[in-house]
Amino acid sequence: MEFITYEQEEFVGVITINRPKALNALNSTVLDELNATLDNVDLNTTRCLILTGAGDKSFVAGADIGEMSTLTKAEGEAFGKKGNDVFRKLETFPIPVIAAVNGFALGGGCEISLSCDIRICSENAMFGQPEVGLGITPGFGGTQRLARTINVGMAKQLIYSARNIKADEAYRIGLVNAVYPQEELMDQAKKLASTIAKNAPIAVRNCKKAINDGLQVDMDKAIVIEEKLFGDCFETEDQKAGMGNFLEKDKEKKLKVVPFQNK
Ligand code: CAA
Repeated sequence: MEFITYEQEEFVGVITINRPKALNALNSTVLDELNATLDNVDLNTTRCLILTGAGDKSFVAGADIGEMSTLTKAEGEAFGKKGNDVFRKLETFPIPVIAAVNGFALGGGCEISLSCDIRICSENAMFGQPEVGLGITPGFGGTQRLARTINVGMAKQLIYSARNIKADEAYRIGLVNAVYPQEELMDQAKKLASTIAKNAPIAVRNCKKAINDGLQVDMDKAIVIEEKLFGDCFETEDQKAGMGNFLEKDKEKKLKVVPFQNK
């Protein structure tokens, strides 16, 4: 791969968008490689992903403006679909994905972070949807996911004004869950990923699916989605061991990692 690196540390996979000369901007090749990287993640051995950008300046500075500058209407729509398809794959990926935002997260960079389950960032992070200043709309899901992640009025204000915000404001409006000094960001991301990876993987996957799918429908349908995914956990090794440890009241056993079973 030219622009993506993938490293596995125990149950955690780290995907790094590695195009620092262009501040990790997303061109077609980066999108294709990200798509292929996701397809190649071994879901039997991976329980959580971290997505970050190479270098200490930028997470992702957006879609590649040079590549977009000459597109026709039809090509623009196709480029939007290309990004949307990959980002949707990330959003619906069976295991949780943490965005470790280590600098600029502008345009497509903010949008890719919104496709992740959890966003944490460094103190130098900057978020924004500058597209209207370039004569386009956000095109990789920003008009949809920003308004579903923070409040609608604030999402509209950020998108219409093309104003970039710093890490502290991103935290205040609920766009990120935590802000860390740059040098601590990856350790904190890995710590969070390991905490998630210690829990029963089928249950964690089912929680992700229940939350994501449930948010798309009304409450009556949503609770049925939950019931099915709740029921799906029963008879698994994780459920038997997890509850067995508790019922045995054996502190040592209770603290033992349950023998995870993957789907
Ligand atoms: N596309 C292509 N190249 C980019 C880029 C982008 N989105 N962002 C930065 N780069 C390139 C620059 O062209 C520059 O390349 P050269 O060294 O070859 O000139 C290199 O990265 C470094 O950038 P700067 O010199 O501009 O660095 P800076 O520190 O002065 O500024 C910045 C940093 C504020 C992030 C600035 O680069 C910038 O404003 N970038 C564009 C941000 C943007 O508008 N993103 C949205 C894109 S549209 C989009 O994403 C649409 C969508 O929804 C799908």
